[in-house]
This record gives sequence, structure tokens and C-alpha cells, in this order.
Amino acid sequence: MTTLRAISDLPVLDFSSAEYRNAPFQVLSDWARKWKIARSERGVELLDYELCRNAIVDRNLGTGHPKLIDLLGLPEGRPLEYKRNSISFHNRGDRRRDLRRPLTRILSEEAAERFRPDIRKVVTGFVDAMPADRPVDLISALCDKIPSAVYCHWVGAPMSDAGFVARTSHTVQQVHTREPRHTPAVVEAFEALIDYVDERIADRRQTPGDDLLSDLIRAETSGQLNADDLRNWVIKLAEANTDNSSHQIAIAIIELASRPDVWTRLGAQPELAARAVREVMRYHPRTISTSREVLSETKLAGVVLPKGTPVFANIGATHWDADYYSAPDEFDIDRAGEPLHLNFGGGVFSCIGRFIVTVEVEETVAFLARRFPGLALEATGFAHSAMFTSVTQLLARLEPASPQRGANPRRYATA
Ligand code: HEM
Repeated sequence: MTTLRAISDLPVLDFSSAEYRNAPFQVLSDWARKWKIARSERGVELLDYELCRNAIVDRNLGTGHPKLIDLLGLPEGRPLEYKRNSISFHNRGDRRRDLRRPLTRILSEEAAERFRPDIRKVVTGFVDAMPADRPVDLISALCDKIPSAVYCHWVGAPMSDAGFVARTSHTVQQVHTREPRHTPAVVEAFEALIDYVDERIADRRQTPGDDLLSDLIRAETSGQLNADDLRNWVIKLAEANTDNSSHQIAIAIIELASRPDVWTRLGAQPELAARAVREVMRYHPRTISTSREVLSETKLAGVVLPKGTPVFANIGATHWDADYYSAPDEFDIDRAGEPLHLNFGGGVFSCIGRFIVTVEVEETVAFLARRFPGLALEATGFAHSAMFTSVTQLLARLEPASPQRGANPRRYATA
């Protein structure tokens, strides 16, 4: 008979250590070799691939979002009201399923494919506007712009709103830092976003078009959503979109352009983009962990977890698990027959935007590699929290020709 352990018996992980900050995936993978389950300041940490994958779809593990918002201490008001009613606060069940249904249809894999030519045009337009004679800050000139332009298209807004959309998403996503010092800025950004969304909805009600918001209004008219759900979705799409997508686009540019052989192959064979992006999302995912909360006392890996325990599936550890990926610390776009990455979580909590953002990343790297075989990374920087990979710097020179280039050794430069 196996002896059950308590959370207090578990080893303690330190996500603030210099080792973790500098080489997070190596450290996660070392931890995973020693332990399947551990604990940290934020809760219980799952490190094993199977344990994480099962936890992500476990019916007894619900959303971790309410606890996160509690921790931030959001005051009563419109932002908190929005959060309470948004998809993130709903646990498994009919209401969650009904809420997700119209969005999963509108943002399906097929819909994202149909949108691909438009995304290609968006990418081309931004790249064409960039100077070729000096280094360019690709975060502001490209990575932020693509997803925020897509959002503007969704809500029928002028492209001049893209800067506001990007800034707002970056600010509201600060909730994931778990640091209450960000709360005033988060509240202010949500207030502005809510006003903005109300304006956009009023505009589209007057002049419906061929865009996502008009589709949602049609879903409301046919009784699939009520007016509050519609509004909450339009806020949620702004919240979750630019910040995550921009960082993942930037990660992909750095990981691929810093490997001249891969970049050259991609430039010559754009059809490799899908597998190159899949490997980027495995090797260096935006999502390092995703959260859940125990709904009623349960046991995981022989540990008793009381109701309310915060649980984190360490996706970063699973992606560097040698039992599932051969030589996981090697970047290899030719991997085959290995499990799909968990960058977008899974099950009824899975990322609604996963198909569209994948198309955005694929189109961006395929276009850049083809147009700029000699793209030179002048300065890059990453920051890794327990939750996310963020790109803090991405300065590049857009070289059409391919001079002799070496791989960028400062891949994990700290911010
Ligand atoms: C590369 C960029 C992105 C990454 C890495 C990412 C990752 C994630 C992850 C890990 C989750 C939680 C899944 C889980 O816990 O099982 C999630 C949820 C979500 N994502 Fe994304 N996301 C990205 C882009 C987007 C975009 C572009 C949108 C908007 C279209 C979006 C909308 C959402 C929504 C609405 C949820 C909540 C789903 C729910 O609670 O039912 N995400 N995302």
C-alpha cells in the first residue's frame, strides 16, 4: 500500500532563483527528473507530463482564476464585475460549454485557415513599412501590431486603434504576475477597455459587417449569447489576444532566425512553417504553466490535496521531458511522432485563440524568412516567470541577403 503524503512533505521549488530565470526549461526538466509533484509559494506544482496532461482535463480541478483575482485584490467595480461573469470564472458544466460554443465555432481551425490570406496581407503591410537601413524594434513594429490589427478587424475598428489595443492587453495581463502592486494599472486599463468595447458594440449594432463582432451580435440575436456575455467576450478577446500572441511571435522570430540553417530552410520552403512553429511552441512556449484549483479533496501522485488547493501544470517541464521527446533540449523542426505541445492548455479550458494565433506566427516567420534570409538579430532578451516567457527586447536588421551569420549565443539573456 502506498503511503499518502501531505503537501507539507513536498520539496519546495524556487521560481525566483537566478538559475531558473536564466535557463527555466533546463531547471524545470531537472526538477521533473527528481520529482513528479512539488510545491512552491503559489501552490502545488505538477512536473510530470502525464500528471500535467491529466490535470488539465481533470473534472475535479476547476478554474484557478478567481483565486488569482482575489490575490490581486481588485476592488468592487466594473472590472471585477466583468471578471466574475467572464468565461475565466466558470467551472466545468453547461454554462461554460454554452458560453464557449459560439466562440469555438467563430475561431475554429477552418475559420483561421480562411483568415490566413488576410493575415498574410497584414504581415506584408507592416514589414513593407519598416526601414531596411537600420535596426528595427520588431516588438513594437511587428509583434504587437499583428494581433492588435487582427483584433481591430474583429471589432470593425480603424487600425489607428491598434496601439490602444496592444497597450491595454499588455497591462491587463499583469494580473498573472500575482503582484498586487499592478492592480491600480490593471483596473484603469480595464475601465478604458470596457468603455472602448461598449463603443464598438454600439457601432456594430448600427452597421453590422463581415467581422467577428457582427457574428457575435448575430449569435446574440439567435439566442446563443445574451448581451452581457457578448460584451464579456469582446473584452476577453482583447485581454487574452495581443499580449500572449505578441510574445509568442517574438519568441518564434528569435528561435528561428538565430539558427541560420533553419532560417534558410524556412525561407526556401515556407511549407515548413507549421512544423517550425510547433517546435518553437514546444521548445520555448509562451505558456510555462497553467493554473487550476481543487474542487473537492483529491489525491494526485500520492499526495492529498484539500479543496481549494491551487495546482499548477508546468507545461514547460512537460515539453522538456525526455520520456516524451527525444533529446528535448535540442531544437529540431523535423521531430515526428511525438506528443503535441501543451502551450494552449486543453479540454474545456483550452485556448480559444489557438488556431488564429498559430496562423499569425506561421505567416510571420514564413514571410520574414523568405524576404530576409539574412535577418540579423542585433539584440534580444527574454524574461521567464513561473507562468510565462516574455520577450523583453527584439532588435533586428532586415537584411535581404544572407551573409555569414553565427547562432545567437544570448538566447536566454535576462531582462
Ligand atoms: C500564443 C498565444 C497564446 C497562448 C500561448 C495562449 C495560451 C492560453 C492558455 C495556456 C490558456 C489556458 C488553457 C488551460 O488552462 O487549459 C488560454 C486560455 C484562453 N485563451 Fe489563449 N493563448 C494565446 C493566444 C490567445 C488569443 C489570440 C486569444 C484570443 C482570440 C486567446 C484567448 C483565450 C481565451 C478566451 C482563453 C480562456 C478559455 C477558457 O477559459 O475557456 N488566447 N490561452
